[in-house]
Amino acid sequence: MTQPKKLFIKTYGCQMNVYDSERMAEALGGQGYVETATPDDADMILLNTCHIREKAAEKVYSELGRYKGLKEAKPDLKIGVAGCVAQAEGREIMRRQPLVDLVVGPQSYHRLPELTAKAGQGAKMLDTDFPEEDKFEHLSARPKAARGPTAFLTVQEGCDKFCAFCVVPYTRGAEVSRPADRVLTEARDLVERGVREITLLGQNVNAYHGHPRGLAGLIRELARIDGLARIRFTTSHPNDMDEELIAAHGDCDKLMPYLHLPVQAGSDRILKRMNRQHTAAQYLALIERLRAVRPDLHLSGDFIVGFPEETEEDFRATLDLIGAVRYGSAFSFKYSPRPGTPAAERAQVPEAEKDDRLQRLQALLGQQQKALQDAMVGREVGVLFEKTGRMPGQMVGKSDHLHAVHVACEGVRPGDLRQVRIVDSGPNSLKGVLA
Ligand code: 5AD
Ligand code: SF4
Repeated sequence: MTQPKKLFIKTYGCQMNVYDSERMAEALGGQGYVETATPDDADMILLNTCHIREKAAEKVYSELGRYKGLKEAKPDLKIGVAGCVAQAEGREIMRRQPLVDLVVGPQSYHRLPELTAKAGQGAKMLDTDFPEEDKFEHLSARPKAARGPTAFLTVQEGCDKFCAFCVVPYTRGAEVSRPADRVLTEARDLVERGVREITLLGQNVNAYHGHPRGLAGLIRELARIDGLARIRFTTSHPNDMDEELIAAHGDCDKLMPYLHLPVQAGSDRILKRMNRQHTAAQYLALIERLRAVRPDLHLSGDFIVGFPEETEEDFRATLDLIGAVRYGSAFSFKYSPRPGTPAAERAQVPEAEKDDRLQRLQALLGQQQKALQDAMVGREVGVLFEKTGRMPGQMVGKSDHLHAVHVACEGVRPGDLRQVRIVDSGPNSLKGVLA
């Protein structure tokens, strides 16, 4: 019997890359590759990359540099770059780093087995097309192995919004939705293998149109699958939160009370310059409507500080908006100019100013996050257990609101969903007892 070849995949960036990496590993499984946890013994290394900010992109080149010794020791080692850096600068990667055998953009993963086979014969391969066919359909069916209790499922890719700072419309292309029946088949299969919570993924997931009633229609059909206990989705644009989706937050029990709804900034002048197509007041009104149907909804957001031309007054408007919303969690970033995007050409805010604003913003968001977490103490929440904790007899899971919860309990297994009374709130997680 031939030895299986070893595949090391390193994933950067968003959850869609996590999902894509899983699918690539499965596709290469069909060619006899098994995954390994370290690059040291790999026959193939695949970096699934992120291009969203400069730092993310630069990491790829420093990581590749580290593989020089490995390649010298094992000339047959194949090195591939996938993901959004591959899409954006494929040729540049091959030029800058001759170690690389294979470059494959996010829309071409179904061609990976063929590309790998050719690279195996010594050819340098580059594929950054946007083909017509659905890559997920052409990737092999997901293997039948048992799975953990939570899974990601990509239902939509690409973006037509063209926010002035963002590379996604260029790296991931136009909005495309997978048909609902295929998503439902994949979801049923995941549930059969032990998955109890599915997070639907898309760069603009609420712009999903693979179902006649949009994302809400898909969620309602998923909710009918026995054994599936929880549904989440990420990430959304405020302008695509339609009536049906708002209503689903009110009356679909399986849809969890947590919503990631990025606003990026709180100043109307900056929102306009960002091409976000809505005002701060419209965003706040939307949140009010969501809270009217689901009062305990936790909101999460993304924020950019130091967008070109942002003044102290603009920045204060962002702090005011955050004060008005009260976020349960948030991600915040210093603006990073991305080649080819409109904002990269504009007057930049000095780095020290960005640092200062980021600190102030994160201090406020940190306080809010902690206050909402502390407010869970004394409440009873659903917890889906995922794994054993560090202490003997302890299990860890996620609450409906996506808080990590530690519970000392006997007889609870990963995949169990139990009611838990929260008794304490630590720096990053809650402690509870079975109710
Ligand atoms: N600079 C900083 N942050 C960015 N994001 C997207 N593009 C940039 C950029 N050029 C952030 C946005 C987005 C999140 C995924 O990354 O907040 O919502
Ligand atoms: Fe980027 Fe999101 Fe704006 Fe699309 S909506 S351009 S993915 S930030």
